[in-house]
Amino acid sequence: DSSKGNDTLVFPPLKNDLLLRAARGEKVERVPVWAMRQAGRYLPEFKAVRADNEFFKVCRTPELACEVTLQPLRRFDLDGSIIFSDILVVPQALGMTVEMIPGKGPSFPEPLVNPEDMEKLDFKCDVTKSLSYVYEAITLTRIKIDGQCPLLGFAGAPWTLMGYMIEGGGSKTFSKVKKWLYCYPEASHKLLQLLADTIVDHLVAQICAGAQLVQLFESNAGILGPQLFYKFSLPYIRYISKKVKENLTSKGVEHVPMIIFAKDAHYALEELSESNYEVVSLDWTIKPKNARSRCGENVTLQGNLDPCALYASKEEIASIAKELVESFGTRRWIANLGHGMYPDHDPEHLGAFIDAIHKYSEQPSDE
Ligand code: CP3
Repeated sequence: DSSKGNDTLVFPPLKNDLLLRAARGEKVERVPVWAMRQAGRYLPEFKAVRADNEFFKVCRTPELACEVTLQPLRRFDLDGSIIFSDILVVPQALGMTVEMIPGKGPSFPEPLVNPEDMEKLDFKCDVTKSLSYVYEAITLTRIKIDGQCPLLGFAGAPWTLMGYMIEGGGSKTFSKVKKWLYCYPEASHKLLQLLADTIVDHLVAQICAGAQLVQLFESNAGILGPQLFYKFSLPYIRYISKKVKENLTSKGVEHVPMIIFAKDAHYALEELSESNYEVVSLDWTIKPKNARSRCGENVTLQGNLDPCALYASKEEIASIAKELVESFGTRRWIANLGHGMYPDHDPEHLGAFIDAIHKYSEQPSDE
């Protein structure tokens, strides 16, 4: 019975559980490190796969998604791996068309304009069926990764997804979607709730398929000020962690650590650290010590190298990594970037960051 979840699937034993231990606040011999968007266009081997395959075809083909997920692990000494997919598969599951335009990014040919457009959405969608390819990719990757490190699943948070669905793509001001919040607050909540329920099912299905941690990306948190964030983002972020955990319990599936990344929501660090996520992921605009004192000792912090620091020389990257280790300390910290990799990053510079974090955070084994 596959509904029983990942304890019925048998995977190779995990050889490196640093990421899981750090997420749970346990002792580690060295700080675990991975990078948001570590699978992607800065890797020539990824571009080679993409040359013959459209973006969403890679997402929908478990063998291809598995292959590009594993690519960065072959190059770097990574402590975590994130499944290749996209946050926009959820709007697709709700019935929207999304295209990935080369050089431009995601585009919705028919974005939601008025609240009446929500009638086009499939309120009864069953992601466990429509997004089954994601779960198949996760199960396949858990087998192929052979216990090298834990595998993360992920989803976009409701506010960030609502932004894409209404703006039709990226935006500078996000004025179309913010207009909804002011002019149609009721319809906005209805849409956010639909997204939240869909995301809960999507995350639970990823965990049942073998994801060992999950990260929720609220990448557009910063475009909301505190007032809108507390009304239209935070309640759904909290709803999702609560419901994911409840659903796992009722299925008899073991809980996994959950990570919240609300980019540029520094005003809400205290609330985020009390939202039932084991890990709070930080962008680079926050001082590590300040974040620690505001978040308390009961959450693990993740982050927060400025992705642009990877343009520096390898020597400078190593010295910045050393500083990060000194300010975060070695307990309850997962080293990562403050946002994702950029297409023009030199892969070797990511390697320099990973190696430096390991080198400077190594703990004597008797401590
Ligand atoms: O390594 C990984 O992190 C693997 C999977 C992953 C992708 N997208 C693959 C991808 C993850 C975790 C995402 C999350 C995602 N997608 C977010 C949240 C994280 C963030 O960066 O804020 C967002 C906002 C999206 C939506 C999206 N998808 C955008 C804005 C773009 C275009 C611009 C960009 O940053 O690349 C994508 C395309 C996309 N998703 C690519 C990849 C590897 C590049 C597309 C290509 O191959 O042409």
